[in-house]
Amino acid sequence: MHKNKLTIAILLGMSSLALGCNDSAEQSKPTLKSQKAPDQLTLKAQFKDNFKIGTAISRDQILGALPEDLNVAKAQFNTFTPENSMKWERIHPELETYDFEAADALVEYAQENSQELVGHTLVWHSQTPDWVFEDDQGEPLTRDALLKRMQNHINTVAGRYKNRIFAWDVVNEALNEDGTLRESKWSTIIGDDFIEYAFKYAKQAAPNAKLYYNDYNLYKPEKRAGAIALIKNLQSKGIQIDGIGMQAHYSLDNPELSLMEDSIVAYAATGIDVMITELDISVLPFPEGEEQGADISLDIALQERFNPYPDGLPSEVNTQLGERYKAVFNILKKHDDKVSRVTFWGISDARTWRNDWPMQGRTDYPLLIDRELKLKSFVSDL
Ligand code: G3I
Repeated sequence: MHKNKLTIAILLGMSSLALGCNDSAEQSKPTLKSQKAPDQLTLKAQFKDNFKIGTAISRDQILGALPEDLNVAKAQFNTFTPENSMKWERIHPELETYDFEAADALVEYAQENSQELVGHTLVWHSQTPDWVFEDDQGEPLTRDALLKRMQNHINTVAGRYKNRIFAWDVVNEALNEDGTLRESKWSTIIGDDFIEYAFKYAKQAAPNAKLYYNDYNLYKPEKRAGAIALIKNLQSKGIQIDGIGMQAHYSLDNPELSLMEDSIVAYAATGIDVMITELDISVLPFPEGEEQGADISLDIALQERFNPYPDGLPSEVNTQLGERYKAVFNILKKHDDKVSRVTFWGISDARTWRNDWPMQGRTDYPLLIDRELKLKSFVSDL
């Protein structure tokens, strides 16, 4: 038992004595948490003895267009990840052009408010402009030239925030669903060792930052095997990797949570941190035959039957969502010696990518904070 948990257990025991409770199961059940009304709770307080609790922050949110969102984020979470502002296409849109406006604002805000910041992301097959892979004639770069370009980018971006960013998602989504390495311009031009170089360059640029591999559907046994091979390959070569981020873009019936638990245990056994990095649970039906997860190239035309709750979530579905979140958090709390952070992919249901994926323009309810910026009623039970 964690020291803090022991303290709470003692305090709870003392409070039931002070209240004159007998030790029937019914009377000893309520905890300090469940006695609090949801509006008095904060997520960061609720899970303070378990793990850091975080959210993604958008450009609009950090640049002041949505001050209420930012207030909620500050009150509820103790770690932030930029949703898009540090992706290559945003921060380095052209060869000689960097746009640090949103990233700088986020780094400053996080420092002022003692929030832990996780940079996202240095090397990804997606959201990376075509010019990155081409010379000035539009021809594919050589391996050496692309490695140099990757190194310059990492030096400039990770180096700029050296000692001010807690960690980096160094490589994002490099694996296929079967655990093999995804074919991308990175892997085609450089070779499979592009991942090794990305981690080496990140270590050189930001020697004190934690360095992570981040991907979706990491609960799948075959993808898990690929991720473990990736981790072990880096470790065997003495290349620093500190953690693995399990994105968790789930739904009410996917995935089977025992697979998530098995993955947490397996990743932890490699000796690195395990984090849930992009948690959200969609309540909407998912088109049959399509891969759930987070492949953003999936873009299906809007069909009303896949958007059943445009005017509000029926209470029975909200109850199902609460039960699902409870099952997820029961596993995460059970393994809180292995899970160091849980980050939600967005602050509230009002602005979540799930409203637009895999169909644009739906109304989803995947987070713990509703469209009025209130914690959902079931949060106190998590
Ligand atoms: O800001 C522009 C807006 O000006 C324009 O009018 C509009 C038209 O489409 O696009 C807006 O940008 C969109 C942006 O989200 C902000 O909403 C981009 O098109 C859209 O591609 C972008 O999607 C982001 C996606 O990554 C791709 O970068 C999502 O916000 C973001 O939540 C999502 O995050 C990813 C993680 O980085 C990696 N794991 C999966 C996760 C979900 O896809």
